[in-house]
Amino acid sequence: MSANDLPSITSSAQWRDHYRDNADDQRHIPWEQGLGVTPAELAEIAESLRAWQLGETSDGRHLLAAAQRYADRIGDPDFLDAVAGFIKEEQRHGEYQGRFLDMAGVPRKQSDWGDSLFRAARYLLPSMEVWATPVVMVETHALIYYNAIRQATKCPVLRAICAQILADEVKHVRFQCEQLAVLLRDRPRWLRVLTMLLHRVFFTGVTLAIWIGHRRALRAGGYGFGRFWRSAWARMRCAWSAMDPTGYAWTEAPSLTALESAGV
Ligand SMILES: [Fe+2]
Ligand SMILES: [Fe+2]
Repeated sequence: MSANDLPSITSSAQWRDHYRDNADDQRHIPWEQGLGVTPAELAEIAESLRAWQLGETSDGRHLLAAAQRYADRIGDPDFLDAVAGFIKEEQRHGEYQGRFLDMAGVPRKQSDWGDSLFRAARYLLPSMEVWATPVVMVETHALIYYNAIRQATKCPVLRAICAQILADEVKHVRFQCEQLAVLLRDRPRWLRVLTMLLHRVFFTGVTLAIWIGHRRALRAGGYGFGRFWRSAWARMRCAWSAMDPTGYAWTEAPSLTALESAGV
């Protein structure tokens, strides 16, 4: 592929518009039909859904603060709007699942060790890279997880929720990958290689933690450990290639290095 054939990074304004348009283009969730979820189905997935619902629920304050600093640094005010649109979408996922749990009579979760660990990783160092890296890894697993939940139930409401979240998360993974490609763009090759090695170590831990925490629901959706492991790595390999800066044509936006040397 020549450099001319490479795709460009989606601009922040385009992402902002995507999240705005997507909010107006939501699938119908047939709440009016009632849930019709069987106790047997619920027993397999309820505990896991409670934890995942909590994970989708965040006011986004830390992220918005990091996004604000980053937007100022790169001189891209649309970036903050794009991130705000992304946060709203995640909150919508949390609301859908919360409403499902409420209707099913399952209490919502207030805290979870996996969620706390994940939040700590993001809050420890409030930079866009430290934020986007665990998020893209969890979202990669979300693509498998919600497919498993969809397979584990005949409940039309839950199946519609899963379909909506799956459609949204495909774009979320792209959003984080492009962001990481921008951040990795000016890193020397050896440091990029080292970063990707660390990603693999971290991803191994995230995959194992998600399996330990959610194996019952994953099994109910047809994912034994082998299938889950292979699917997770296959999806993450796609994400890694989407965050490779050499896979993009960099024609318009100046690089961070250029901005920094210009005193921006
Ligand atoms: Fe989500
Ligand atoms: Fe997401």
